[in-house]
Amino acid sequence: MKVALVTGASSGIGLACAVAAARAGFSVVATVRSPAAEPAVRAAAGQAGVPVEVVSLEVTDPASVDRCLAAVIDRHGRLDALVNNAGNAGLRTTLELGPLAALRASMEVNFFGVVGVSRAAMPHLRASHGRLVTISSVRGVIGQPFSEGYSAAKFAVEGFMEALAPVAAEVGVSVSLVEPAAVLDTAFIANAPTDPAATPSGPYAAAFDRYRQWVGTGAVEGAQTAAEVAAEVVRALTDDRPAFRIQTSEYARRYVARKLADPDGSAVQQLTRSWLRP
Ligand SMILES: NC(=O)c1ccc[n+]([C@@H]2O[C@H](COP(=O)([O-])OP(=O)(O)OC[C@H]3O[C@@H](n4cnc5c(N)ncnc54)[C@H](OP(=O)(O)O)[C@@H]3O)[C@@H](O)[C@H]2O)c1
Repeated sequence: MKVALVTGASSGIGLACAVAAARAGFSVVATVRSPAAEPAVRAAAGQAGVPVEVVSLEVTDPASVDRCLAAVIDRHGRLDALVNNAGNAGLRTTLELGPLAALRASMEVNFFGVVGVSRAAMPHLRASHGRLVTISSVRGVIGQPFSEGYSAAKFAVEGFMEALAPVAAEVGVSVSLVEPAAVLDTAFIANAPTDPAATPSGPYAAAFDRYRQWVGTGAVEGAQTAAEVAAEVVRALTDDRPAFRIQTSEYARRYVARKLADPDGSAVQQLTRSWLRP
């Protein structure tokens, strides 16, 4: 049985991915940070009638990453897919007002966390000719006002994975990015860090007000459920040749197409892979 590791599975998209991948026939290892999250994962898996194994993982802690991968390999002897899902929305702020430490924290979870887990998983994915799938965002393609740290981290993920994909393909590992727009039935907003002192104010107050109005209307246009996003992730895990860049809805596709003349990444993949071939 193929083994899939899903990070950040205590809620939202990660939990939906764990259940959907198990339904699709994977043996799923779902990670949580806190033991308190385990019953929710077990309940969701039980309700869906599928087995999901729960392992502890803090993506910013290299020792935790090593322990998690060792647990997967000890138990299953293989890893066929990694779904990098763990992440957070970062502070809603702007350059002048947000502490540098908050930017670093966003990079630590949303970028270095993804890289650290991917790095530990890579030898096993190479052995299985597996899949490395990372949940990015349309905000990793078009910078989101007042979410500079989050967009920066997701842009970093996009650049890292785009550069890695042709190299990984040479050793039999398929790399994909999944780009949802808004997904409302998750704990993303509730889990976002807050800092009243960093809330846009003074010369930024009017723009922030207008932005919040847009969030209440524009941002919910095209919103999806976590289960809908998970269905796209399962396709990325099971399709013969998944695209490099996968938008999870027509809305998300139109959104990023404003920036990307090449929305599924195939033209860039063709170019960068051609540099590695005789
Ligand atoms: N919701 C959206 O609108 C949206 C849109 C596009 C992309 N995304 C992306 O989708 C992914 C999942 O988000 P979501 O909406 O499902 O939010 P969520 O419900 O808050 O889930 C985030 C998950 O990541 C985990 N996590 C956070 N920091 C972690 C760390 N340092 N180590 C290990 N796990 C950590 C959380 O665990 P705890 O419960 O322990 O905090 C939780 O399980 C994120 O990468 C996000 O950027 C979300």
